[in-house]
Amino acid sequence: SSTTSNNNDGFLQCFFSKVHHSNPIDNVIFTKNSSFYTSLLQSSIRNLRFSSSTSAPKPEFIITPYHESHVQATVICGTKNSMQVRVRSGGHDYEGLSYVADVPFIIIDLVNLRSITVDIDSESAWVEAGAILGELYYKIAEKSSVHGFPAGSCPTVGVGGHISGGGFGTIFRKYGLAADNILDAKLVNVNGKVLDRVSMGEDLFWAIRGGGGLSFGVILSWRIRLVPVPPSVTVFNIGKTLEQGAGELLQKWQTVGSELHEDLFLHAVIEVAKTSSNGENKTIKISFFSLFLGPAEKLVPLMQESLPGLGLELSNCTEMSWIESVLYFAGFSIKEPMDILLNRTENFSGYFKAKSDYVKEPISESGLEGVWKTLLEDETSLLILTPYGGKMSEIGDSETPFPHRCGNLYKIQYLSSWYAENETEEHIGWMRRLYDYMEPHVSKSPRAAYFNYRDLDLGTNIDTNSTGYEQASKWGLKYFKHNFKRLVAVKTRVDPHNFFRNEQSIPSLPS
Ligand code: FDA
Repeated sequence: SSTTSNNNDGFLQCFFSKVHHSNPIDNVIFTKNSSFYTSLLQSSIRNLRFSSSTSAPKPEFIITPYHESHVQATVICGTKNSMQVRVRSGGHDYEGLSYVADVPFIIIDLVNLRSITVDIDSESAWVEAGAILGELYYKIAEKSSVHGFPAGSCPTVGVGGHISGGGFGTIFRKYGLAADNILDAKLVNVNGKVLDRVSMGEDLFWAIRGGGGLSFGVILSWRIRLVPVPPSVTVFNIGKTLEQGAGELLQKWQTVGSELHEDLFLHAVIEVAKTSSNGENKTIKISFFSLFLGPAEKLVPLMQESLPGLGLELSNCTEMSWIESVLYFAGFSIKEPMDILLNRTENFSGYFKAKSDYVKEPISESGLEGVWKTLLEDETSLLILTPYGGKMSEIGDSETPFPHRCGNLYKIQYLSSWYAENETEEHIGWMRRLYDYMEPHVSKSPRAAYFNYRDLDLGTNIDTNSTGYEQASKWGLKYFKHNFKRLVAVKTRVDPHNFFRNEQSIPSLPS
């Protein structure tokens, strides 16, 4: 429309006038005519449901800042020309919100803002928002074999979205979430000002550690607290089918998983396994993956006591360095060179849909039987059960916006993935059926969900231009519970005109 083209011209003029003298803008702004536009847009799309080859709406411009002034200019010129801004770090948003919008929009892609400075003396690091977790783990390991950081397992996840939405991984039972280990942050606010912890104030600093970054500004960098890890850790993976007693094991796991020593992470991955070569006979297989912050000889007796049915022996265990365990949980061989962690290209290139739930009471045997039955209807599906407890129970449920602390046995992630576009409806339909089935077995009032596993089925702002509190509480209370109110108050103060918005952004209340 002519409004869009006027806004585009206005934006470009404004942008050039702001960045012209101080910093060169070659390779910073890409229009739809640029030959790099499509490959850049596609570069970190992790879910083909929103691929650039589909009809998904595309941005007017993609901006790849090399300097904070480029971010400042984009925000200032965006507000002046009513352009919606989406911010992308690693592009892993489950619903593509960092790069798809149904109104004319701009993407700020932080791929070039990804420097990492590790300081072992102060056990901290500054990490720019466009860095991926793999780069962060690599940089820490380069300097120390006894330091780590408690964030997610997938190396291509971006720290911008991940940390602002919580961020958990294999050592979160000992150290909490990534968001629980943030010392400082830099952010560009709606007025284009660069703020740090002191100048943004504790309320806003609280909000961006779990409440999602995008609602509040553009996060430029985090100062993180490094955590100690032993020189050697132990991993194992034991899989059993229902016929081999997996069901009984899971029953027991439900009650012991969150009670285990905080050095021990034992998650369960439930999937469909074929039992005949023609694929006609299927069963359910449950794999128990573990990371233990200590030696195998200490782990084996611990497991024999708490989950004897698993039959763990020394021969099932592999000792390795913490950084090797990062490779292991990322699905690589631990013999791979460590720099594979720097690769920003995702191995998976398919379509997916996910949802999450929290479990507070063990699910009954008959309840689980219904899960097996439903899972067998979608062979591509996966349930990942992550035990809570440990440090997660010690941190208060208002300390950060992430409220899922004491009282949770485990979290479930439901995941379905597929490779053909015409199967999309079938898999999403199946996932919604499974989610309906689970309702009586999981947390209630609200039925809680993990913000970083974004799910637009939970509800969206009516349209991205008018957000109402009632409407937003549908999903907001599920992700943030009682913290939602405080998030709305912070948002109303720092971005009263609701410039930073998407389908599930925190609403700002009318004055
Ligand atoms: P992306 O760039 O898509 O951003 C996600 C959201 O944050 C968007 O709304 C975006 O606008 C906003 N945002 C991003 N950068 C911002 C910035 N600098 N300032 C303000 N807002 C910003 N989670 C977990 O806890 N543990 C895990 O192990 C995993 N593993 C995992 C594997 C895979 C394959 C996927 C696809 C996802 C996960 N996740 C996960 C979920 C992941 O934490 C979640 O998708 C994060 O939001 C991804 O952050 P990115 O920066 O990669 O995404």
